[in-house]
Amino acid sequence: MKNITTTLKKLIYSWKRNQYPKKQPTKISKVDNLVIFLLCILISIVSSYKFLLFSPIQSSDIVSWFLTFVKAFISCGILILVSKKENPTITSRQIILIISLLLLVQATKITFTSTISPLSMFVPPALIISQGMGSITSLAWVSIASLNWPESVNNFDYSLFFIALICACFVSVLGGRIRSRAQLLQLSILVPLGALLTQWIIIGNEKGSFIDNQQFVITNGRIFSDTLLLAIIMLFTILFIPLFESIFGLLTKARLLELADKEKPLIRRLSLEAPGTFEHTLLICGLAEEATRMIGGDIDLIKTGALYHDVGKLHAPNWFIENQDGSKNPHDEIDDPIRSSEVLQAHVDEGLRYARKNRLPKPITNFIPEHQGTLKMGYFFHKAKEKNLDITENDFRYKGPIPQSKETAILMLADGCEAALRAMNINASDIEALETISKIISSRQKDGQLKDSDLSKGEIFLIKRAFLNVWKRIRHRRIQYPTAKNNTFS
Ligand SMILES: [Fe+2]
Ligand SMILES: [Fe+2]
Repeated sequence: MKNITTTLKKLIYSWKRNQYPKKQPTKISKVDNLVIFLLCILISIVSSYKFLLFSPIQSSDIVSWFLTFVKAFISCGILILVSKKENPTITSRQIILIISLLLLVQATKITFTSTISPLSMFVPPALIISQGMGSITSLAWVSIASLNWPESVNNFDYSLFFIALICACFVSVLGGRIRSRAQLLQLSILVPLGALLTQWIIIGNEKGSFIDNQQFVITNGRIFSDTLLLAIIMLFTILFIPLFESIFGLLTKARLLELADKEKPLIRRLSLEAPGTFEHTLLICGLAEEATRMIGGDIDLIKTGALYHDVGKLHAPNWFIENQDGSKNPHDEIDDPIRSSEVLQAHVDEGLRYARKNRLPKPITNFIPEHQGTLKMGYFFHKAKEKNLDITENDFRYKGPIPQSKETAILMLADGCEAALRAMNINASDIEALETISKIISSRQKDGQLKDSDLSKGEIFLIKRAFLNVWKRIRHRRIQYPTAKNNTFS
């Protein structure tokens, strides 16, 4: 009996699963795939061609060439896989950027042989990649670039190469966490200084003695020029990062914070034309931020995403209850549930249009359709049923897709709980608030909206606690302080 129940449950689950749009993998066009493939082949050729320059060519040279070619090609594939794992929404342009930087380093090294230090070749690309695509992708890039370093073993400076690797790894880790352009500038000064000191200690002592001044200056002249070159290239990189952001659609922390500025025209418009939606957005930002902090998600991403999630309501602000200050409800006037459901869906479609117009990055745009997922517009569906209209439940569901990340899933839950928490009685207990939150969240779970988000049961528990904490803060703000006579409001 138990087995039959389990099988039935599985069948119902897979049937329900088919009702929702599948998790969208990153779509890469055939042309882009071809470009990426050709770039990988080019990198493999550049890494291995030197084995074919020996004359006469021995069979061992051909074997070495083949092995190096395959090693370079596979390492490019691993780099692409790591970047896709860290950034599921990575675009083909961004993959092309990572691979092109790898090729650029190889080509620069071959063109300038030993005149350019590996420091200047590893560190600036590591900064761009860590800022735009995260520390893990950047660390993977540094490892692959060092593995495919086109340099013969005879004239290889291991100490300098090691210092360059350490600096690049340091920049990769810090670059993924830096949140402002000012911190980037500090990094562009501190890293060259650190590299200078390390080179001085390791290489300077090796090649020249402090007692022999002439030799010391000659040896360290190279160190000084390498450091200066690194500092200049890093400064130029920082200067061009906004250009990389717009060309390759990179989403750096600094860009996220800039987009979260409430003086941005679109957000300003929202506050003026749809003040109710703006207030709803601010409260959702608080709920979502607290929950994301609890589960260790990307706080900057969700704060910015939450700010833009309902911008589509600008197309018809008074059709949404939060903007109706007691005036007539247009939905009641038209008395057409199908038309009303179209207006609700339009806040997603129009939101996407505003996002395109304002060149919002893809990870922010994703919050617009995913916060509604494929939720049912229950009120209008029941109204249509009452009118005996020829409709199905799917006609009254948002088009989706359902949340594809933890952050968009949290926003969906915050969106659902916001109105209920706001409407709760000031004297309601914590248990009552938690019950309300749990009811809304489990209804979303049962509806299959959280299936693609990878939120675990533990994380959902933490999200509920976070929402409760925010509710406690809201209640605290709403409690009137007793004012004594002759209060000076000091
Ligand atoms: Fe919405
Ligand atoms: Fe909303």
